[in-house]
Amino acid sequence: MLRVLVVDRSPQTRETIAELLGDLARDVVWAPREGAGEKLRAGIAAGAPFDVVLLDAEPPPTQAVVRELVTLGGGVRVVLAAAGPDGAAVAARCGATDVVARPFSTAELAFRIGRAAAGPERADKRRPRKSDVLIGTGSWIKDMYDRITMVAVTDVTVAIFGESGTGKELVARTIHNSSPRHDAPFVVVNCAAIPEALLEDELFGHVRGAFTDASRDREGLLAAAHTGTLFLDEIGELPLPLQSKLLRVLQSQEFRRIGDDQDRRVDVRIITATNRDLDQLVAAGLFRQDLYYRINVFPIHLPPLRERPEDIAMLVHHFVQKLRGRLGKPIDGVSAAALARFAGYDFPGNVRELENKVHQAMVVCSGTTIEDVDVALPKSRAQTARPDVDRPFRELKQETIDTFERRYLTELLRVHGGNLAQAARAAGMDRKNLWALVERHGLDRAQFKKP
Ligand SMILES: Nc1ncnc2c1ncn2[C@@H]1O[C@H](COP(=O)(O)OP(=O)(O)OP(=O)(O)O)[C@@H](O)[C@H]1O
Ligand SMILES: [Mg+2]
Repeated sequence: MLRVLVVDRSPQTRETIAELLGDLARDVVWAPREGAGEKLRAGIAAGAPFDVVLLDAEPPPTQAVVRELVTLGGGVRVVLAAAGPDGAAVAARCGATDVVARPFSTAELAFRIGRAAAGPERADKRRPRKSDVLIGTGSWIKDMYDRITMVAVTDVTVAIFGESGTGKELVARTIHNSSPRHDAPFVVVNCAAIPEALLEDELFGHVRGAFTDASRDREGLLAAAHTGTLFLDEIGELPLPLQSKLLRVLQSQEFRRIGDDQDRRVDVRIITATNRDLDQLVAAGLFRQDLYYRINVFPIHLPPLRERPEDIAMLVHHFVQKLRGRLGKPIDGVSAAALARFAGYDFPGNVRELENKVHQAMVVCSGTTIEDVDVALPKSRAQTARPDVDRPFRELKQETIDTFERRYLTELLRVHGGNLAQAARAAGMDRKNLWALVERHGLDRAQFKKP
């Protein structure tokens, strides 16, 4: 959520921008050019600095004007709003980071403002934060690390598959960070987030004069990733014409900027990710078969969280450690009952959803331990959603049974403090059978011990 200062002749522009940016911006504030410095300073004094200044190109600002805004705004990024065809030239002259065309379009505005706020592509993305490690228990995570280490030392193209929130980007970063390229940039391009019309320019860049506002050469993100790794997220959304260009990069490490008559060479390692079924896209003619073969040299499949519920407890503790500093709360534990709540839910949004729920629980938590009342989780989706009749009956039935068993067992163990004999008696089950079931679901009885 961004704070944007609109510096414009007309206060009306504030409404337009606020409306177009929608949820992307938390605050959109207006100031005339003479009052902009004061607003920026006030933002910093209040502990809520602006992320981006959207600066009217009329009258054309000088370098001194932009420099002053940047200084007063504590390094705020300045994006020019220009109506004419030579906006890029004006931006280049005055030192603005980027330029957006007037009248504004939602897609372009959101993209350029978002990118300006994120800062230069390479900033602080290079080194992993200590908290960003891939966590898991059991054989799944061991195999994953084996595959990551195996492929990291090579330049082989990696394709990561998995539902939303399963950790695809984290795996891509881990590969890059364990590779000989770790000191070079790791550049992320989300093929779904960038409007199609801008994507080619973003990726490949252009030469001066390639189109009306191309008043100077621009390197694309492919060139920015030179000697490093390019992570193409949501590769399934890449438009067909760009698929051909990407194929060429993979085959010969060559590409051409828009409007250029020369080929250029790059040395990049490419990692792709998608939550779509590429086979299906190929069958539908939306994804090139030859490109699919090229990117699918070394596939990595990330299982959804509901297939590895044994990871939940560990991830909960991991996120508590990761977030407590940021929240400034002395939370250092999670009660067995709260853990059972997490373990009993099937997380359609996977690890990202789990992280959000832990975060929410920590926000409302008033002590040093997260209690079950702090945990807000909807009913398990398996219980409420309409059955997906496109899937085989047996598979779906098994899934429902698994979910039920897991929820039943976590609650049973919670009530009986992890005591198997007592739990078996209460459930009317044979102790050995209960033990086998608990094992199969990877539940750790020790977590349910009452203090
Ligand atoms: N195994 C894991 N251990 C620790 N953290 C994880 C793990 N998997 C995912 N995360 C965390 O969960 C969040 C979501 O992960 P990530 O962004 O990598 O998912 P994704 O598959 O790229 O999702 P999407 O398809 O929605 O882009 C991140 O904060 C990430 O650090
Ligand atoms: Mg992602």
